[in-house]
Amino acid sequence: MPNHKLPILEEKGFVVLKKFDKPVPDSEFRHMEYVDWKSGGDTNFAPIASAFGDMECAGFWDHGKPDKDGIWTKNAEVCPTLVEWTERVGARYGRVRTIKLEPNTEQDAIKNLHPDDNNRLNPEEEGWVVRAWLQLTDNPDSYMIVREDKDDPSTESRIALPKGAQFVVDSQRLWHAVWHPGPGPRYALIVSFESGPDLERWIDSQLAEQPVGA
Ligand SMILES: [Fe+2]
Repeated sequence: MPNHKLPILEEKGFVVLKKFDKPVPDSEFRHMEYVDWKSGGDTNFAPIASAFGDMECAGFWDHGKPDKDGIWTKNAEVCPTLVEWTERVGARYGRVRTIKLEPNTEQDAIKNLHPDDNNRLNPEEEGWVVRAWLQLTDNPDSYMIVREDKDDPSTESRIALPKGAQFVVDSQRLWHAVWHPGPGPRYALIVSFESGPDLERWIDSQLAEQPVGA
């Protein structure tokens, strides 16, 4: 039996939600402790929940766990809004981290396209792990580039990254990377969530309202 997946992600592999309606103080993500961890460019990550609460970004499988049931690190004390955001979703979460990405070029981003490894050790009777993003800095001219096939630009979509942007990506299925022209680093929260009724309910509650008559 394959892992349960959400119907809303079936067609495109991602869904863009409405913006987060609460401000996140800069101090929450700028003052955390970052560790040098390269993924998708010149990046640093601040672990907020890890496999056993240590300040590390390694896959949970290194500790014999699937990417679920994350345990808060000491960074969690610095970012109450981000912890609350994660818990409010109501679904099982694994890795919770902020990413700090230095400026790059479109060419760099294409070169950095990669799929995530979200489902190692995930028991097949449980839900498929996907990732949710909350954009923390206001970068309306930056984009997450996603492709179904890494070498085929016709399979590409671009997700804009203004402050408060929220989106969910099956990031093991889609190749992805962020093109961030800058200036200054781009920050975002990234959380691994288990697919299931809880995540589905939250996504439904966050769908952008359709304009009347559209
Ligand atoms: Fe990734």
